[in-house]
Amino acid sequence: MSETEQQQEWTPIHGEPYRSVPYRPARMPEAESLAHAAELRERMRERRTVRQFAPDPVPAQVVRDAIACAATAPSGAHQQPWTFVLVQDPEVRRRIREAAEHEERVSYDGRLGEEWLAALRPLGTDEVKPHLTDAPALIVVFQQRYWLGEDGTKHKHYYVDESVGIAVGMLLSALHLSGLAALIHTPSPMRFLSQVLGRPENEKAFAVIPVGYPAPDCQVPDLVRKSLDQVLVEV
Ligand SMILES: Cc1cc2nc3c(=O)[nH]c(=O)nc-3n(C[C@H](O)[C@H](O)[C@H](O)COP(=O)(O)O)c2cc1C
Repeated sequence: MSETEQQQEWTPIHGEPYRSVPYRPARMPEAESLAHAAELRERMRERRTVRQFAPDPVPAQVVRDAIACAATAPSGAHQQPWTFVLVQDPEVRRRIREAAEHEERVSYDGRLGEEWLAALRPLGTDEVKPHLTDAPALIVVFQQRYWLGEDGTKHKHYYVDESVGIAVGMLLSALHLSGLAALIHTPSPMRFLSQVLGRPENEKAFAVIPVGYPAPDCQVPDLVRKSLDQVLVEV
């Protein structure tokens, strides 16, 4: 792909077929493929959700590159229904923390219901969310429920939850493989994020992702993941 093509501005295509272009990536030799897969499996096994961050700054370009990786995710009808807001401003992070803790207080005080609270109890999380101000960067992910045509017509997006979920999975993987720690935080409800960040009406907050380095005394729950046998069915 030429430089010019890479820099082309994306505009929605509606009701028109794409022109097709050759796709002939070099085939990876099997031994190399096996080695990559085994290494990646091990690297990904080491990923953990971090809730205690060091205040040290992170290279913003690493975060931008991880967001660029996430933005290569497949999406329903290639509608790319996502916006990533990178927040480093301490005052904006403080406002997000204040609003999130307000919502979380109501949630932990009973709004979540006993079953949900029981599911969270093993993790020991509560309404206090220091990671929102300790982590040097927050990525707030929004899903675009629809797009607005130039004439103001609303066009529905398809498979928005699935598409944004895949993009966030790729984002978390890219951050981890680039040496940064992250947490996917989903305060409920999340409307305050649109207000604090001034996002348009077609966008709905999906998650807040604090990004940084683990604090020197960071602890994580001693979780056991399902084994491959428990999650894989081969037919
Ligand atoms: C969709 C989603 C929402 C989550 N929301 C929260 C959250 O609001 N607060 C939190 O502390 N962790 C949250 N988590 C993190 C999970 O608790 C964590 O991924 C899980 O305990 C497994 O731990 P691990 O990521 O270290 O493997 C969320 C994870 C996912 C996938």
